[in-house]
Amino acid sequence: MTPTPLSNEPAAFLRIGGGRALRGQVAVAGAKNAALPMMAAGILGRGATWLEGVPELGDVEILGRVLQTLGVAVGREPDGRLRIEPDDRRAGQVRAGYELVRRMRASFCVLGPLLARRGRAEVALPGGCAIGDRPVDLHLAALAAMGATIEIEHGYVVASARRLVGTRVSMTGPRGPSVTGTANVLSAATLARGETTITGAAVEPEIVDLGRMLVAMGAKIDGLGTPTLRIEGVDTLSGITHRVIPDRIEAATLLLAAAITQGDVTVTGCVPEHIAAVLETLRAVGCKVEVYNEETGGTGVSPVENTFHGQDARATQAVRVSMSDRPRSIDIVAKPYPGVPTDVQAQWMALLALADGTSTIQDRVFPGRFMHVAELARLGARIEATDGRAVISGVDRLSGADVRATDLRAGAALVLAGLAAEGQTTVTGLEHLDRGYERLDSKLASLEAQIERVDSIA
Ligand code: UD1
Repeated sequence: MTPTPLSNEPAAFLRIGGGRALRGQVAVAGAKNAALPMMAAGILGRGATWLEGVPELGDVEILGRVLQTLGVAVGREPDGRLRIEPDDRRAGQVRAGYELVRRMRASFCVLGPLLARRGRAEVALPGGCAIGDRPVDLHLAALAAMGATIEIEHGYVVASARRLVGTRVSMTGPRGPSVTGTANVLSAATLARGETTITGAAVEPEIVDLGRMLVAMGAKIDGLGTPTLRIEGVDTLSGITHRVIPDRIEAATLLLAAAITQGDVTVTGCVPEHIAAVLETLRAVGCKVEVYNEETGGTGVSPVENTFHGQDARATQAVRVSMSDRPRSIDIVAKPYPGVPTDVQAQWMALLALADGTSTIQDRVFPGRFMHVAELARLGARIEATDGRAVISGVDRLSGADVRATDLRAGAALVLAGLAAEGQTTVTGLEHLDRGYERLDSKLASLEAQIERVDSIA
């Protein structure tokens, strides 16, 4: 998906002076991929819902605009909470238009909530995007099985149902469970008549968090965090206040930035359990990884048992990663949770470009998600990608160059590579980066990176 710029201003870019080790402490923001389906689920409630910890991002802004076109008020409270308030008098507004949906695929998350609460939804087909073919067949098949009439008309999914009826549906396709598909069907099932069983459901922490929010609204859901969800439909849900979980992809990106610059960074406010596979892989390439309990009101952190498993999935902790050498080479396969996420696959590739030896990366979720390969090559990386597998021959140095972010996580990978490269790197295509990271450049600058945002190429 290539979003059009929100204005005609000259494109901003990042100027990075590479070769400096990152040092310090930085806090992680709320999870984009939890906040988006939760904002859409706000449609389901009677009255306002407040979400705490929603990051300030391009994607959040776009979904906010989609919701506004649906007669749902969206606004920030002075304390930072995001208020989502559906207006029943505007329940006839069920059309999520092409211009916004094509900019952000996750806009498709309004389909289930609209259908369940308003009996009808007209949502533009999101189409493909830069990271590959991304169908929505699983979303549609499940909602149809629940009694919705679904037509594709003039590029829109037009779905209607007086009331959805619970049944057994599967959310797993050839590449594993669909995350936003599970979000759509789980949200819709909360107001269906009878029991819905979702098999092959996504178990990502963002889905568990959405489920917790729906339960707080009055939904009856069993099995969160397992591939089988049982939802007993209720007649109404109410608005609530809910805190969004920390962003595990942002946390992983910042920790990989520490590793690639051979620095020493502590990321606070994250849930180590959610990034266990990333932390284990960081250790495998030679990083020192420590988990700390955050002291309330204290100035620092104190060491706790140095393990990631079996933690309370809601307890936030600090993770410190330090690295003093080139990474060792390794073979990585990006998989659905709890595997290494596809959303950090590109950042791993940046790190392994500098490894001592040959590494491989496969992406089981989006096998064609390798656009960053060509841009990393501009910085001197030696990577060959064929048939969904990248072979990375580690080099001992990268050299700064002008590169372009082709999608969100490719942008993050290029920033990381630029931080490690000798000399200056400029990264354009920031509209992608800003879609999913809350001021990544400021956070990196606070860790002593030499990075600045330049507002125009003039
Ligand atoms: C979500 C995340 C995205 C992440 C991805 C995989 C959000 C807003 N986005 O995207 O950051 O990269 O999960 O973790 O949460 N598929 C089908 N049929 C469908 C739907 C999906 O075959 O109806 C396939 C896709 O092509 C892909 C795989 O299933 O190969 C997983 O896609 P999916 O989990 O749906 O990705 P998103 O939910 O769009």
